[in-house]
Parts: sequence; structure tokens; C-alpha cells
Amino acid sequence: MQNLASILEVRGLTKELPLGKEKVSILKGLDMTVMKGEMVAIVGPSGSGKTTLLGLIGGLDTPTSGSVMLAGQEISRLREDKLADVRNRTIGFVFQFFNLVPTLTALENVALPIHFDDRSRFNPEKRAKELLDLVGLSHRLNHKPKELSGGEQQRVAIARALANQPAVLLGDEPTGNLDSERGEEILNLIQQLRRDLGLTVIVVTHDPKVADRTDRILTMKDGHFVTAAAVS
Ligand SMILES: Nc1ncnc2c1ncn2[C@@H]1O[C@H](COP(=O)(O)OP(=O)(O)OP(=O)(O)O)[C@@H](O)[C@H]1O
Ligand SMILES: [Mg+2]
Repeated sequence: MQNLASILEVRGLTKELPLGKEKVSILKGLDMTVMKGEMVAIVGPSGSGKTTLLGLIGGLDTPTSGSVMLAGQEISRLREDKLADVRNRTIGFVFQFFNLVPTLTALENVALPIHFDDRSRFNPEKRAKELLDLVGLSHRLNHKPKELSGGEQQRVAIARALANQPAVLLGDEPTGNLDSERGEEILNLIQQLRRDLGLTVIVVTHDPKVADRTDRILTMKDGHFVTAAAVS
């Protein structure tokens, strides 16, 4: 078993943002540990802080206080250039609205993060082809996003998220813009990749069907975790 080590440790995490002359407290001291290879769902009402938390875990943003230890590295106080390296190499992001570059083909979209990593050991085109094959899209290499279905676009986005072999896949409502059948297929794919690649997955979702298929559900409310129940 590989699951003995933690890959993410969040301690006392807070985020405040200015609002006019006031400050709003968006995250109010979160603690969270995720083990290597685990799949965790984050659920909770709109505005409870789920996307904010994911952004801090993934180095898209920095906290007001507290720490985020990701794959053995404290990322919460890194300078932007170092944080960009962590984002590019350690984290794969998948979003609700796919966020592909519209002018690039599927192959070019997946190769892009490899081009951005000047120390990458991967050949961008070869790696992109392998990953698109892995997500079942080897017949769509030269299609642009608008020539792909929603489910296919999300598969390209997943392949892109895996480009630099990240340790952790973060999803913000990855099935939120798909019908239930397509959503189910994307969830199956994420679970298969998790198994085959030993990925750790943290997924924000409103969908109980998605949450129920993870190892553990963390529920947020008003900037706190309210439960951390294991799912039977
Ligand atoms: N730039 C900002 N300035 C001020 N407040 C913000 C800013 N960004 C987010 N917020 C507030 O922070 C809170 C948490 O936002 P967040 O996007 O993390 O919620 P969420 O749980 O992801 O919600 P949803 O389920 O609707 O996506 C919200 O009340 C939001 O209004
Ligand atoms: Mg959100």
C-alpha cells in the first residue's frame, strides 16, 4: 500500500479579502490532511469557500495566515515564480467550464503545460498523444474545442491536467457542466486514472453522486469544515 504518507497538510488556513473599508473573512482556520492516493470530495453551500480553498491548495492564491504543505513543500509563502512551478508540476486542475484555449487543437492544448515547463523531461507532442489516447480521444487530436462535445472537452482538459505528471488532481465541479451520463463517464475516467497513475484527487462538487463515490466527504459551511465523515 502506498497510502501511508500524507500528500497535503493544511493547518490553520485563513483567507480575508478587503471589501470596501471592511475585511471579509472567507476561510476561518481550516485544518485538513489528505493521504497519498486518496480521493476526497469537498461539498457545501454556494459561497462557503470551496473554490477559495481549492485555489489555496493549488497555489493559485496565497492565504492570509496558516500553512499548506503540498508534497513535502510549504507553498503558502512562496514567491509567484516558484508558486507557478509548483502549479505546473505538482498540480493538475480541472474546471467546470473546461477552460481550453479555443484557438488550439486538442493536441496543442495538452502539450501547452509541457512547453511552459522549460525543464520538462517530456516530448510535448508525444506526451500529449499518449495522454489523449489514455482519455479515449486519439481520434480527435486535431479538433479545436468548439469541434468537440462537452464530455470530449473535459477529457482534453483532464489530459492537459496530467501533462506534467502531477501528484494531485484538483477538480472544481468537473461534472457540473455535463449531463448525468457524460458526468458519470468523466467520473469513471478520473477514478480509473487515480487507480492507474496513483493520483490523489480532491474534487469540489454539488453532485451527491460524485461525492458518494469518493473515499471521504468534507463539508464546508461559512468558511469552516462542519464534518469530516468517512463514506460507507
Ligand atoms: N475577490 C473577492 N472579493 C470579496 N469576496 C470574495 C471574492 N472572491 C470570493 N469572495 C467571497 O468568498 C466567499 C466564498 O467564495 P467561493 O467562490 O470560495 O465559494 P464556493 O463555495 O466555491 O461557492 P460556489 O458553490 O457558488 O462555487 C463568497 O461569499 C464570495 O462572495
Ligand atoms: Mg466555487
